[in-house]
Amino acid sequence: MCGIVGYLGKKDGIKSVLLGLKELEYRGYDSAGIAAIDIEGILIDKKVGRVSKLEKSLKKSSNKYSLAIGHTRWATHGKPTEANAHPHFNTSKNIFVVHNGIIENYQEIKDLLIKNGYKFESETDTEVVPHLIDYYYNKTNNLEKAFELTIKDLQGAYAIEMISTLSPRNIYIARLGSPLVIGNKNKEYFIASDPTAIIEQTNKVRFLEDYDIAIVSDKGLKVKNLRSNKDSKSNFELLEYVSEESSLGKFPNFMLKEIHDIPKTIETALKGRINVSKGTVKLGGLDSVIKQLEHIDRIIIIACGTSYYAGLVGEYLIEEIAGIPTEVQLASEFKYRNEPISRSTVVIAVSQSGETADTIAALKKVEEYGVLRLGVVNSIGSSIARMTDAGVYCHAGAEKAVASTKAFVAQTTVLALIALRLSKSKGLLNKKVIKELDKLPKLVEEILDSSDKIKTVANKYKNNKDFLYIGRGYNYPSALEGALKLKEISYIHAEGYAAGEMKHGPLALIDESFPTMAIATDSRLLDKVKSNIEEIKARKGPIITISTKGNRNISKLSDDNIFIPSTIEQLQPILVCVSLHLFSYYVAEGLGRDVDKPRNLAKSVTVE
Ligand code: M6R
Repeated sequence: MCGIVGYLGKKDGIKSVLLGLKELEYRGYDSAGIAAIDIEGILIDKKVGRVSKLEKSLKKSSNKYSLAIGHTRWATHGKPTEANAHPHFNTSKNIFVVHNGIIENYQEIKDLLIKNGYKFESETDTEVVPHLIDYYYNKTNNLEKAFELTIKDLQGAYAIEMISTLSPRNIYIARLGSPLVIGNKNKEYFIASDPTAIIEQTNKVRFLEDYDIAIVSDKGLKVKNLRSNKDSKSNFELLEYVSEESSLGKFPNFMLKEIHDIPKTIETALKGRINVSKGTVKLGGLDSVIKQLEHIDRIIIIACGTSYYAGLVGEYLIEEIAGIPTEVQLASEFKYRNEPISRSTVVIAVSQSGETADTIAALKKVEEYGVLRLGVVNSIGSSIARMTDAGVYCHAGAEKAVASTKAFVAQTTVLALIALRLSKSKGLLNKKVIKELDKLPKLVEEILDSSDKIKTVANKYKNNKDFLYIGRGYNYPSALEGALKLKEISYIHAEGYAAGEMKHGPLALIDESFPTMAIATDSRLLDKVKSNIEEIKARKGPIITISTKGNRNISKLSDDNIFIPSTIEQLQPILVCVSLHLFSYYVAEGLGRDVDKPRNLAKSVTVE
């Protein structure tokens, strides 16, 4: 889950690499490092902490270095220390490597290298790579060959860049299971884990595929696929690029900004896709597969984390609106299950980043079943967007805070649109859902306007050690999402439960110190939720309710209440989750947490 970048050209490589690293910090932010080469020599700098720390240290260097590679790390093997930070190098310090992914057979390779006299300075899996290149170089006296032989020995997932004073105008690159893109502008080359890191510098890009190894040099780009053993064409494509507002504006951090982006996010997700007066939905991304979609009898949604919870809302929506049996599976579990999947099944991958390793692996697993694979993805041009047969973009814009907020809303909105598009009926429910979808941006504005009230409630409960979130029906996923968001950014233990499950175990937890956030909005299941609330109250558990504006009966039942505007229950998770996101945000802010970059996490989980 790290980010890697590289630069080869005639300009300031350090500046270019730092620019890319800052964009990739969402992939990991516990340490950062850079290696650069030019006629003046080698520069290597690593710092524990954020890219800004590395940047500060690099300001001392007046040299520009026209060849450089950089890395921002999320620790997998070994603690965040300078020794474990990338780039890693061989003992002679003439081969430098940055790596994203995991080398699964690193211990085996390390043992062999140690037997051959190699010494290691770090606890990482990556350090075997420069030493192994060195080992093969000593045998072959050919750096390109040594790189290729090394890559062939590696098992696991990787995106690797290597530079060396033995060949100081080349960057050697390899990819298996971790994304890599190469950008080009005249005689400059930019390498990165994803296009966002280089798009400000060029939109002319070439995505590498699994088993590709490549060399970037002043002569151009050379790509070879190790599986087919053939040279690949180095065709660049122009990436559609919409410049995004990346500054915080009036907001103190990206999470709050992104929550406030939500009305616009919904508008964009719906734009050109719904016709309220006709009650119809148009999704251009599905046009090419619409005939196939007419014959499906099962949908499997695969996702992780918050995207999984959006998928759960999607399951309820698709089953009720389109009448197609749907299930949601955690990608990390799905990929190892041996379940029968028929060709009339559609697999939908939901992912903000489009780079989540488990979701990618789950999609790869179903490749051999010959099923249709769709994507509900936010990041344009990401791996999942490119590997699926068709799909619908979320168009939520860049989401920078680790905690997913506006992307969850966009995913849920898009899944509602897919449910409507798959529905063979054009009945009352469909019309109602379309009409209410159209109203959502204004309703979210109302919630944002009531932020102060949510902040007051958050401050009252911020010192609690545990939290339970309960909901039923469409708001069962909201309870799970609310709990995840609270633990993720405030580090308070929180669990989400189906309210009906309370008596089957969790009720034992309840006492005066264990508050419950009960989602008790107007719905077919409200009376049932009310009974669950009474049962908690009878055990002295403090209750915060989320209820529908105007329903005073619920607020009377609880210690504290947060109102959401009225909407149909099918779309309530969107409004409920905006309130729950704000609640978590204010708890975390009150506790002084680093809201955008919570400890131990990264925005994009690119290792399994
Ligand atoms: O990029 P993805 O949507 O595939 O990411 C999935 C999860 O890693 C992500 O939703 C994670 O749970 C968030 N940090 C939650 O806020």
